[in-house]
Amino acid sequence: MNLGFIGTGKIAASVITGICKSKISYKKIIISPRNKKIALGLKRKFKKIVIAKDNQQIIDQSNWVFLSVTPTVGEKIIKDLKFKSTQTVVSFISTITLYQLKKAIKVKAKIVRAIPLPPISLKKGPVPICPPNSKVKAFFNNLGTTVEIKNEKSSINFWSTSGMMAPFYEMLRVMTDWLVKRGVKRNNAQKYITSLFLALSEDAVANSKENLKNLVKESQTPKGLNEQGVKELTKAGFYRSLERTLNSIHRRLNK
Ligand SMILES: NC(=O)c1ccc[n+]([C@@H]2O[C@H](COP(=O)([O-])OP(=O)(O)OC[C@H]3O[C@@H](n4cnc5c(N)ncnc54)[C@H](OP(=O)(O)O)[C@@H]3O)[C@@H](O)[C@H]2O)c1
Repeated sequence: MNLGFIGTGKIAASVITGICKSKISYKKIIISPRNKKIALGLKRKFKKIVIAKDNQQIIDQSNWVFLSVTPTVGEKIIKDLKFKSTQTVVSFISTITLYQLKKAIKVKAKIVRAIPLPPISLKKGPVPICPPNSKVKAFFNNLGTTVEIKNEKSSINFWSTSGMMAPFYEMLRVMTDWLVKRGVKRNNAQKYITSLFLALSEDAVANSKENLKNLVKESQTPKGLNEQGVKELTKAGFYRSLERTLNSIHRRLNK
């Protein structure tokens, strides 16, 4: 089986890296020359990568086609490409709906939307897919945890929370810089902050069948530092603002 990627940016590179480190069996991964630097980097790093001359060649030579361009580019180029009805098309494009994809692709290919995130390069993290599809589910289970979603509207809820990746890293950056300003060496500060939040995330996963409010409660001692942290941030509107931002990202996806 050949896998083709239209668009070789951040998310395509992460997915391709995950595939190349996984047990997924494939013959070739055919990628577009754009972005040239990333495409050449992937080709140098992994054996079965082939750089096509253009987008149509990727489609002609692939059994599965992954759409990993931005919405603006997708709207411009998908309608002019010729897909095959035997193909499976997996779209990572955030704001193009299944209905719009079907209209642009025209032939009766299997079309699935997926939301992989950069840690897929480590074969970690959730991959919501919509609509459910057993082959696509099995594929992404080699690269993380597939979550099948029946209804596209509901998949938009997951999309919205994935807009919190950069804010999460920004929080780590702010805390690291805060330590650095107080004289801690950057290396030590980054090591401390990243391993603290890795441990907290692992603990949250281990407890993910419980209501997360238990962890919030258990990590506070009366009058302790964490109680102060959560109280002051709540008072300052930090969590309300988080929810407001989720709502506004959701509104944008729902247009
Ligand atoms: N990043 C994420 O975490 C993430 C997660 C899930 C889904 N997504 C979605 O995945 C899509 C891609 O995101 P990204 O972050 O990977 O964006 P990106 O890094 O900007 O990648 C987009 C890629 O498309 C290429 N491109 C531009 N015009 C093209 C054309 N006409 N034909 C073929 N390729 C073309 C770009 O090449 P040039 O650099 O040469 O212009 C670039 O390689 C978006 O729709 C995004 O919403 C992203």
